[in-house]
Amino acid sequence: MSFKSQPPGPGQLNRCQLFGPGSRPAIFEKMAASTADVVNLDLEDSVAPADKDEARRNVIRAVNEIDWGNKILSVRINGLDTEFWYRDVVDLLEQTNGRLDQIMIPKAGNAGDIYAVDALVSAIELGKQMEKAINLEVIIETAAGLAHVEEIAAASPRMRAMSLGAADYAASMGMQTTGIGGTQEHYYMHAPDGQKHWADPWHAPIVAIVAACRTHGLLPVDGPFGDFSDDAGFTAQARRAATLGMVGKWAIHPKQVALANAVFSPSEAQITEAQEILAAMEQAKNEGQGAAVYKGRLVDLASIRQAKVIVRQAELLK
Ligand code: COA
Ligand code: MG
Repeated sequence: MSFKSQPPGPGQLNRCQLFGPGSRPAIFEKMAASTADVVNLDLEDSVAPADKDEARRNVIRAVNEIDWGNKILSVRINGLDTEFWYRDVVDLLEQTNGRLDQIMIPKAGNAGDIYAVDALVSAIELGKQMEKAINLEVIIETAAGLAHVEEIAAASPRMRAMSLGAADYAASMGMQTTGIGGTQEHYYMHAPDGQKHWADPWHAPIVAIVAACRTHGLLPVDGPFGDFSDDAGFTAQARRAATLGMVGKWAIHPKQVALANAVFSPSEAQITEAQEILAAMEQAKNEGQGAAVYKGRLVDLASIRQAKVIVRQAELLK
């Protein structure tokens, strides 16, 4: 146990991040009207190279003109290995009116990547005397990103969230997969009875991202699930991510928003159980005990901390 206590993390809802291509302005109003907590307007991989300039102009207009309500408004810029990213940052910050909350940096590979964007953002904020500081979120989706996940999390006080980008991650790692996230056909255990049991190839990067985020007070988020006709597959992936500590998941189609919100909002039953555990522990404390029995099982001081995670989520939702 470190003598430094774990930072609480940003107190903001992040159950679902809805993406839309910057080159498809017809869906921007629909994104604003959705029930996603975060909206990500994309300038990167859903926009063809020939459309980059027009997409940037569309996004700037949308940031200024659309009523985004109380959503967290984020724009995914192009990767630092392209000729587009600096212009994305400069034009976005110079030509928008202060509504933008976050910039998402794709394919973050090390702390230097975050430093570069931070330096550019800081200079523009200073020059424009902007009142609101722009926050950063990153996608961990390369071998280097995973290898340096902790230094990336610690790279700037602007950092708010990290997402796992399954498709680019798989490509960078040389994984034999094609689907974006979820169960992979050849990733199974062969049981003695001859049955196949599918395992989770995303488990390791999810745990690494959650650990880096929790250490540095950021929000860990599960990225895209490509097959938007597979609701059960999406929900299973989201539940695994939630079980491992992630707070939300991307939607790449509007129908995935409700699925993500359902998984990442604690149920009435979970909230009730957490409150009952806290009450049982309060009673144990009054009786001079550090442990108690709740519904036939042990609860102790660690159970208080687990229960408080759920109670805090419920409070945020209110
Ligand atoms: N956000 C909000 N609304 C969206 C949307 C989105 N991302 N994608 C589609 N819609 C709307 C459509 O306009 C349509 O609206 P309508 O009922 O008023 O006509 C409705 O949702 C149903 O759309 P559908 O026909 O099922 O999908 P599509 O073929 O138009 O688009 C995708 C499918 C996958 C191409 C599209 O959802 C998309 O571009 N998703 C985001 C991709 C992205 O940003 N990727 C980068 C991150 S991985
Ligand atoms: Mg990607």
